[in-house]
Amino acid sequence: MFSECRRYIKEGDSVSQFDSICEVQSDKASVTITSRYDGIIRKLHYNLDEIAYVGKPLVDIEIDASKGVAPEEDVVETPPMSHEEHTHQEIKGHKTLATPAVRRLAMENNIKLSEVVGTGKDNRILKEDILNYLAKQTGAILPPSPKAEIIPPLPKSETLPAAPKDKARKIPVPVSRPIVFSGKDKTEPVTGFQKAMVKTMSAALKIPHFGYCDEIDLTQLVQLREELKPLAQIRGVKLSFMPFFIKAASLGLLQYPILNASLDESCQNVTYKASHNIGVAMDTEQGLIVPNVKNVQVLSVFEIASELNRLQSLGSAGQLGTNDLTGGTFTLSNIGTIGGTYTKPVILPPEVAIGALGKIQVLPRFNGKGEVFKAQIMNVSWSADHRIIDGATMARFSNLWKSYLENPASMLLDLK
Ligand code: COA
Repeated sequence: MFSECRRYIKEGDSVSQFDSICEVQSDKASVTITSRYDGIIRKLHYNLDEIAYVGKPLVDIEIDASKGVAPEEDVVETPPMSHEEHTHQEIKGHKTLATPAVRRLAMENNIKLSEVVGTGKDNRILKEDILNYLAKQTGAILPPSPKAEIIPPLPKSETLPAAPKDKARKIPVPVSRPIVFSGKDKTEPVTGFQKAMVKTMSAALKIPHFGYCDEIDLTQLVQLREELKPLAQIRGVKLSFMPFFIKAASLGLLQYPILNASLDESCQNVTYKASHNIGVAMDTEQGLIVPNVKNVQVLSVFEIASELNRLQSLGSAGQLGTNDLTGGTFTLSNIGTIGGTYTKPVILPPEVAIGALGKIQVLPRFNGKGEVFKAQIMNVSWSADHRIIDGATMARFSNLWKSYLENPASMLLDLK
């Protein structure tokens, strides 16, 4: 096994315990390896972007002239991670703030601090952040803490979780890393997330896909989100359309559990999954990743939005861990944030269904009285595993999902 290595240090640098040494990306996750020692970097065993082999030395650190060279840092493949990594994660170069007690709590529960959104001053991670994170993982509902009931003052915009891309995405712009044409062919190894994509998509195309598409009128939802967005922002969360799409899908899955199932390799058994771990295809600098929001069936729209913000922050920082990237049971891909109407999404095995959402467009449509009005139209494209899901089931699920989104107030009837 191997990992792709991106480093923060060079030979001769002084490092302290817990300083970031490098970022290692495997086909499963991306982790920051930190120093176990105070000392000076004497030797780097790999260059930037080289493939580092698990179990082989990564770096030599001289801890003290009298003591000689420290034991070599080894490459860690993927989480679970070492004590140091658990207790000193960094996001975008900023150290996570947490007391030793909170770090210990995180470590004891095998939680990476980089995955927890801190709600304290300067994004400090509090004990309740860890407990909330744990609750989301397990589906347990924590009683609201007194603090959670107090609506905090409007945070400064820079303290809100950053959206991965700004509105400039609406205007096509050249790619950030343009390809330099040297006149010669260039061959490079398939690594990291691309490697994972090769593996998953090759397996996916063995599944007979059934496609189903429809048009959704989001006029009411667009209006509702406009009203709720500032309220969510006051509570520190960016509210996009995705939380509604995700919650409506979960309500639909309760009625059509075959869409939240998996088929074993011999096609003899179908397992109906208890949790709705809804994957969200994410376009990141590193490539396509699909983290999932766990236990959507017990989450409110606001909680889904908050979790999505966390996943987006980590995704754009290349910091998503194995737990967030595995265990999905159903997927939604909002390619419409980039453009397009209909698409042909590919199922992510072992899941059995996926939905892709097109761009929301203002288009003329007729109302009940036959009058033309400005409608907010979005197209949806579903793919389902036709070995266990028939077209009628997919269509009925889609109709239900559509009805929740076209009449968002109707979701209230079924929200727990
Ligand atoms: N059509 C038009 N606008 C849309 C939209 C759609 N379908 N979906 C979202 N938007 C808007 C959002 O409302 C937001 O606008 P705002 O700033 O006024 O609130 C803006 O686009 C940016 O949304 P974003 O921050 O990206 O959040 P999101 O929750 O809507 O989407 C992701 C999150 C992760 C799905 C999205 O960022 C992404 O990566 N999409 C690409 C997925 C992909 O690559 N799929 C292909 C897989 S093969």
